[in-house]
Amino acid sequence: MPPKKRTMLKVVILGDSGVGKSSLMQQYVNNKFSTQYKATIGADFLNKELTLEGRKVNMQIWDTAGQERFQSLGLAFYRGADCCVLVYDVNNSKSFDALTLWRDEFLLLANPRDPENFPFVVIGNKVDVEESKRAVSAKRAQAFCKATGNIPYFETSAKEDTGVDQAFETVARNAMAQV
Ligand code: GTP
Repeated sequence: MPPKKRTMLKVVILGDSGVGKSSLMQQYVNNKFSTQYKATIGADFLNKELTLEGRKVNMQIWDTAGQERFQSLGLAFYRGADCCVLVYDVNNSKSFDALTLWRDEFLLLANPRDPENFPFVVIGNKVDVEESKRAVSAKRAQAFCKATGNIPYFETSAKEDTGVDQAFETVARNAMAQV
């Protein structure tokens, strides 16, 4: 019998510039973190192989520069996505307020079959930063996610590698449900 085909999943990460999109992806896929800020130019993707419910899965994670908005990336970036990860920085309320815009932009450009039920995951990153700098409480973020179609919510530190695997496991499971 020929080996079973690998399931391919496409995941898109969106959020304001500097919230840690590239860092989350690097930590999840390569277990690496750098404090040096290197703005993403255009779009980039990494592959992560994982086994989900006994099936081999190839998750392609697409990262984009937070500065590039509104179609500048081209529709190919968005189309065919199986899950969209919306990232904000818990110490930056502007990046939290932008989540709705990113979600709307994704739905407009990706144009999924069933927009009402398309899987999003929200990540509040940089929870390692001292508590006094925190601008958005977990409670506020959870309330937003609940009101926006019950989106799963995770808090992470790409720097200290906390919560990253858990968040992406939910991303993978929800993406899998789409294929
Ligand atoms: P763009 O490419 O401009 O869209 O940025 P991005 O969202 O990909 O952010 P990036 O991953 O490049 O991280 C921006 C800066 O935040 C870098 O200096 C990172 O080192 C830092 N950073 C990322 N994640 C964390 C984190 O969990 N904690 C802390 N303290 N810093 C982080």
